[in-house]
Amino acid sequence: MKKVVEISDMSKRFGSTIALNHVNISAYEGEILGLIGENGSGKSTVTSIYAGMQKADSGTMIFEGNAWQPDSMNDALKKGVGMIVQENGTVPGISVAENIYLGEVNRYKKGVFINRKQMMQDAQKALDDIGADHIRAEMITGMLDFQDRKLVEIARVMANQPKVLVVDETTTALSQKGRDIIYSIMERMKEEKKTVIFISHDLDEIMRVCDRLTVLRDGNIIRTFTKEEFEENAIKTSMIGRELQGNYYRDDYGTPVSDKVALKAEHINLGDQLIDLSLELHEGEILGIGGLSHCGMHPLGKVLFGAIKPESGCVSTKDGAIHSIAEAMKHQIGYVAKDRDTESLNLEASIKDNIAIAGLDRIAGNMHVILPNKESAYVKEQVDALSIKCAGINQYVSALSGGNKQKVAFGKWLGRESEILILDCPTRGVDIGVKQAMYQLMYRMRMEGKSVLLISEEMAELIGMSDRILVMKDGKIQKELLRSRELSEADVIQYMI
Ligand SMILES: Nc1ncnc2c1ncn2[C@@H]1O[C@H](COP(=O)(O)OP(=O)(O)OP(=O)(O)O)[C@@H](O)[C@H]1O
Ligand SMILES: [Mg+2]
Repeated sequence: MKKVVEISDMSKRFGSTIALNHVNISAYEGEILGLIGENGSGKSTVTSIYAGMQKADSGTMIFEGNAWQPDSMNDALKKGVGMIVQENGTVPGISVAENIYLGEVNRYKKGVFINRKQMMQDAQKALDDIGADHIRAEMITGMLDFQDRKLVEIARVMANQPKVLVVDETTTALSQKGRDIIYSIMERMKEEKKTVIFISHDLDEIMRVCDRLTVLRDGNIIRTFTKEEFEENAIKTSMIGRELQGNYYRDDYGTPVSDKVALKAEHINLGDQLIDLSLELHEGEILGIGGLSHCGMHPLGKVLFGAIKPESGCVSTKDGAIHSIAEAMKHQIGYVAKDRDTESLNLEASIKDNIAIAGLDRIAGNMHVILPNKESAYVKEQVDALSIKCAGINQYVSALSGGNKQKVAFGKWLGRESEILILDCPTRGVDIGVKQAMYQLMYRMRMEGKSVLLISEEMAELIGMSDRILVMKDGKIQKELLRSRELSEADVIQYMI
């Protein structure tokens, strides 16, 4: 088999952080190579260097037998290496077509005119080709939801027919439909003897789709597994350097839930996204909400947090009705949005500022003053509880790895001791060790009589953690399912479609 990608002895530092330490990675034609490792282990760094996004400090790269030194991501893409990045990779204020042909408008220039019609047609074809024909090329990108924006990015990369495709932790941000699109693109590339490098924290998924699997830990390559060697525990152990102890999901059944209502939604209407929807979240309950990506569950989270005003209906706690985020926070509600980078975090601020902001009233206490020491101690506590990998609490959130950003978004509400947490896909992109820690924290809250609303596209997580699951479809609650050992993914999915 021909070696297509070769990365040798690559190192990269960010200040005092060693992101890559003499890393070697190879990928062959016609294979899907998996990359796995804890948050901050170097997966995005090494692949983004290969895809032209940033430069290594040292090391060599080869693409199809020749020295490889791309100037930029666009340059790499033109020459055959495309990457679907972990974070948002589209520009919101321009059309879908302009995103697909970003930096290439010259292609459509005729003198001083741009042949927009041709550009729209080509962009639509690029979308249709990947199976995303529900997105129209002339739409403004910012109007699309997270998943559809990702699909635009995928269409852009695929329109360039790359020989090497890097998919960085994209699938966990997508619903089944988006995932299926990516899986079929990867399969097609494999049939065409091209190369895919696939990054995911979902061990089942990575074992299913990959031919080989390379494990990174703290910037070092630990081991490469061939398909025959795939074994869940061995992979986990090499990832975290020790065996994972304890339960992953909660393992209790039949634990009673209080009949006191913590949060109530009554007859909520929001366009065609939510239709006469009512629900009650109880004290000491983890209530799961599942459904396909456009079922309305993501806007529901925002409505419950006062971030979107419904056209009619009412959200309330025992302290009264909620009309705004400020009121929601006053009622001790916390919210982690699915689109963390734009809605839950200020990337250009420090970890400290991001975490402290939600906890200001806690830090200030009855004295209403903020002592710097107290603030730092408060933030450090959250950083430790979630083992956020950072150079220090003054580091900008933009410099954190994807999963560590997610931990900051979660930590923001954790320390505040919110009575009610609304979590929209909270474990997206976090490694298995931290996922376990988050599950334990949710469970602890539940056992303390607090309430968690868990909106999720991960069936296993919904079934594993919820006292009750509401399955949504077309803006309505289709079915209520109670926690039980017998509940299977198929039981839940049948009500979604
Ligand atoms: N621009 C940057 N400035 C400072 N540090 C950075 C920067 N980019 C990455 N790092 C650090 O380099 C290390 C590796 O990060 P990287 O993003 O490659 O991790 P990852 O394996 O992709 O993690 P995740 O699973 O969370 O996405 C982390 O400690 C991260 O904080
Ligand atoms: Mg990453």
